[in-house]
Amino acid sequence: MVTLITTTAELKQRRSSESSTVGFVPTMGNLHQGHISLLKEALKNDDVVYLSIFVNPKQFGPNEDFNRYPRTLENDINLITEAALDFPNSQVFVYAPKDAQEVFPAGMDQTISVQGLDNILEGKIRPGHFDGVATVVWRLFDLVKPQRAYFGLKDFQQYHVIKQMVKDLALPIKIQGMPIIREKTGLALSSRNQYLTAEQKEASLILYRTLSTIKELIISGKNPQDYMRDALKDPNWNYLVLRDTETFSEDITNSKNISILAVYQMGNTRLLDNMQVEVL
Ligand code: PAF
Repeated sequence: MVTLITTTAELKQRRSSESSTVGFVPTMGNLHQGHISLLKEALKNDDVVYLSIFVNPKQFGPNEDFNRYPRTLENDINLITEAALDFPNSQVFVYAPKDAQEVFPAGMDQTISVQGLDNILEGKIRPGHFDGVATVVWRLFDLVKPQRAYFGLKDFQQYHVIKQMVKDLALPIKIQGMPIIREKTGLALSSRNQYLTAEQKEASLILYRTLSTIKELIISGKNPQDYMRDALKDPNWNYLVLRDTETFSEDITNSKNISILAVYQMGNTRLLDNMQVEVL
């Protein structure tokens, strides 16, 4: 059963009368199969699942796409309902607040910052972005009070920011990272892919191909730095870097698993992707 909740008062009332284990999938809506994979994992693991749909103004910069970010609630509910059919005894509550004041009422002006991770890579290019993400996720965690929360690994730095926040604030919530879902071509699913023209979509495969090549080089014991330096001559890379998967550290000398993180600029759209490689 899927139930829509549009006010925080209703959400709080429901949560206060519930004792089951709660899984939580925070989203900004415009759902695709990547989000649905998080929902299905939550439906497998938890008695009750809350999924939030909230385009959080705090995580968009002044010149970013907050206003044009696709809002498709009806279609989202249809996708959720269809996914829930595979779990006949499931209960899904969709918290889709009707305005931002429901989430951040007047006077609530705390900001959560995860220092160290907030000003590198995505954080450097989008100043304040991770404060906005951490603040809304902290607030949503406080309202939903889940035991477990699900995040897509496509936003790999975001996943690390949330894990660090949960650790710093000692929140009793398990953070589960979920694999990237891709189109057949390799392009990672993202709500922002719909901004791409057909030509841009085709051209954006450079991202998947480059990450795959770097992964193969690492697997075959070769140093990918020359290849990466060469690739970076294309000015459309916002970044293309290696990080330790566990710690997000730049120092990968003793890493057992390396993450290749990249953003490629396709016209006005920034395409994020990453791949993990086990080092044998
Ligand atoms: O990944 C997203 O969709 C958003 O950053 C999140 C986690 C829902 C917070 O607004």
